[in-house]
Amino acid sequence: MNIAIIGTGFVGVVSSAVFASHGHHVWGIDIDSSKIAKLNQGIAPFFEPGLEELLQEGIRSELLTFTTDYAAAIPSAEVVMITVGTPSSPEGKADLSYVLSACESLGPHLRPGAVVVIKSTVPPGSFQQVAAVLSNTTKVSYHLASVPEFLREGSAVADTVSPDRIVLGVTDEISENVLTKLHKPFQAPLVVTKPESAQLGKYAANAYLALRIGFINQIADFCEASGADVNDVIKIIGHDRRIGSHYWYPGLGYGGSCFPKDVRELAYSSKVLSLGETLFTSLNSINSARIAKKLAAWGKSVNGFSHKRVAVLGLSFKPSTTDLRESPALTVIPYLLDQGATVVGFDPMAVEEAEKLLPAHEKLQLTSNLATAIEDADILLALIEWPQIITHNYQAKKGRPQWFIDARNQFNPQQLRQAGFTYIGIGSPISGGLS
Ligand code: UGA
Repeated sequence: MNIAIIGTGFVGVVSSAVFASHGHHVWGIDIDSSKIAKLNQGIAPFFEPGLEELLQEGIRSELLTFTTDYAAAIPSAEVVMITVGTPSSPEGKADLSYVLSACESLGPHLRPGAVVVIKSTVPPGSFQQVAAVLSNTTKVSYHLASVPEFLREGSAVADTVSPDRIVLGVTDEISENVLTKLHKPFQAPLVVTKPESAQLGKYAANAYLALRIGFINQIADFCEASGADVNDVIKIIGHDRRIGSHYWYPGLGYGGSCFPKDVRELAYSSKVLSLGETLFTSLNSINSARIAKKLAAWGKSVNGFSHKRVAVLGLSFKPSTTDLRESPALTVIPYLLDQGATVVGFDPMAVEEAEKLLPAHEKLQLTSNLATAIEDADILLALIEWPQIITHNYQAKKGRPQWFIDARNQFNPQQLRQAGFTYIGIGSPISGGLS
């Protein structure tokens, strides 16, 4: 099949490479010519495990080509996928301008009978806007479908190759048949539905996961206040088969480019749809207030951050990505500097990205060398569970107090106490959490 994929973000590049690996002829399109030039050399615009190998294989086999030229890519495409971003507008609404502008550019080149697929995360009701733009820019008949994407950063290739499900939001049989055939090799459960359900299903999945994290973080706070231990509470609730024990670790709250944005859209839509107050209205504000609350509590436990040297371990918003969008480090580091601490930030891959986003400061150093980061630190603050961070054998220096703050509950408190640290985790009472 000939496929054109518009937008070379995480979803676009990974989908392009995976569909090419299934033997399809894929054109990836973007307006950024420098990105396109690199992609044609097999260089991904971001780090994602396994992606460059797949890109290079696609380019070598001549099944995968990237271009800025819609006229080169669209006329032969039986399926055109839109994978551009839908950032939050100031009031929280998903901004569809990139999707609509992609439609304007592709419309004039569309082949009769092509299936145009919206993979970008768009709210129910977006089809009408998309169809209006397409119908203004093309005279040929086309089919419109919604196939939301559920991949996670850091495991995007694996998630795309083996998805939990494929959702086809369609309104006609031709789209359903074409898209069913295209997705058959993934061997995933197929949900065929109307576009509105497909679109809301994507928001519902992200909002549920965000709620789950918000929930366990609040339970962790109850644990700290009441003498319970969140790890045991997770075991207790996790044995309930209706609940399960995965995707339950507490921390400083969810970050990244998706959960905050999608919860914001649901909060916005609940107002527009006159649904009154919903669970989503306050979820993001509770989530983002969390970092300041935890920092204030930890500050008390370490007798203030002023004049302390703090090693902040993990700068990206999660492991295996260089993405810092809504990463805890972006709030934690300025706070520590403001409190008069000296900060050394460590990340195995995201230092270059962090340098662009963190303010230059005489008391801030960033490094990709873990030993340098922890050398002489009074406080080790483990923010992100990169394997390099959680497998390191930490030893406190003899004869001086050193704290280990485990912001993701990834470490064995006993071991760290034996190694000489005062351990502070999440969701165990501060008194019990200290050695
Ligand atoms: C999320 C969804 O998981 C994907 O299914 C979805 O396709 C994607 O958004 C999207 O809409 O594009 P992602 O943001 O890459 O993927 O990352 P997650 O692994 O879901 O983590 C999101 C945030 O929650 C991170 O800050 C992570 O550290 C945090 N988290 C995750 C927790 O605090 N606790 C957990 O138990 C799990």
